[in-house]
Amino acid sequence: MSFSRRDFLASTALGSLALGLEARGGEVKKSPGGSAEAFPQPGSGTSKRPIIVCAHNGLAYLDRAYEHLTKGGDTLDSAILVVTGPEDDPNDDSVGLGGLPNEEGVVELDACCMHGPTRRAGSVGGVRNIKNVSRVAQAVMQHTGHVMLVGEGAERFAVAMGYPRENLLTERSRKVWMLWKEYHSGSDWWGPGLADPKWQAPDAKSDKPQAALWQQRVLQLTDRAADLGIEEEFRLAAAYRVLYPPTGTIHCSALNEKGEISGITTTSGLAFKLPGRCGDSPVIGAGCYTDQDVGSAGATGSGEENIKVAGAHTIVENMRHGMSPQEAGMDALKRIVRNYNNDMNKLRFVDMTYYILRKDGAYAGVSLWEGYSKGNPHKIAVHDGTKRAEETAYLLKGFSESFPPLPKIPAELKKDSEYLK
Ligand code: GLY
Repeated sequence: MSFSRRDFLASTALGSLALGLEARGGEVKKSPGGSAEAFPQPGSGTSKRPIIVCAHNGLAYLDRAYEHLTKGGDTLDSAILVVTGPEDDPNDDSVGLGGLPNEEGVVELDACCMHGPTRRAGSVGGVRNIKNVSRVAQAVMQHTGHVMLVGEGAERFAVAMGYPRENLLTERSRKVWMLWKEYHSGSDWWGPGLADPKWQAPDAKSDKPQAALWQQRVLQLTDRAADLGIEEEFRLAAAYRVLYPPTGTIHCSALNEKGEISGITTTSGLAFKLPGRCGDSPVIGAGCYTDQDVGSAGATGSGEENIKVAGAHTIVENMRHGMSPQEAGMDALKRIVRNYNNDMNKLRFVDMTYYILRKDGAYAGVSLWEGYSKGNPHKIAVHDGTKRAEETAYLLKGFSESFPPLPKIPAELKKDSEYLK
């Protein structure tokens, strides 16, 4: 971690909290420099409609969604035009087709949506074999008397609605999963056996420095990735996905000129999760919440933590009671910090980004930490006539670490590790 506890206490609103002083949502570090300064500060109250706010992985799909919105298209349909981009992309392993699978090698997807104008919601959790779960969540809303369907029932509903069953596990994601299985082969029968020329005894009693052991682990993994047929340029990324199973998600909220607003969130969840695990993304009020009278919010990051603070709902309610989008988001982040009693030893493994859009067009992107690493800040994507990425405002100075804890990454490997994004 690149800051001391003293720096932390001095530089964040949370420091005031820890010292027993009053903390206000607005007293936070602003994103330093970057594109944020060229545009209105997030949460400043400057409003422009129509506008779409989404996670950074939606940037490439904002133009088509904004065009749809400005031509009078529905706000939820517009938001879905953003999130189906990554859902359809086999190389985006965070959502939809090609999403990283559960521990059994099966892709399970979650999504939820809220449609402001009709005040309705739809959600699906743990869906297998159906790529566009964002559309299926919308179909639950439009074509059933329910709000949430899960598992096999959700899949059968999707098929009934005309969505084709397809194999969502791309060869690339299957190989990353196999690499993950083999990485744990010290304690099961997966991976090269004793008779394999490349078999190595576990290095448990090694007196090598931790960083050297870590480097050795990465090299073994990239070597094994080559044996599994993972293309060279993706081997290091695959090793990182195995060492630090990622959560990948996209949220999008859209607001039209009339002030109608909707939101949607979709994900493949946490890589190598237990079958049946649902994170925050299919949970109305956690991964997404929209109230036509107030605004919309959504989340990406540590799903389990966000469920416990009902993040998206908390943010919308905060705005209802007068907080700016940024203050509302910071308050939700502080609740996550409070749940761990400000324990940085645990919080460094948690991260969360909220995407917030108020009914008047004011917006904010806020995150728990600055970003993934130096030069890799958390970002949101925005289109209000000008498409752009903006750095988030953050609560804690420094960078989150991936779980499980491992020794510090050697600098020469770290510089290649943009895949951590
Ligand atoms: N935020 C995505 C998940 O935890 O599943």
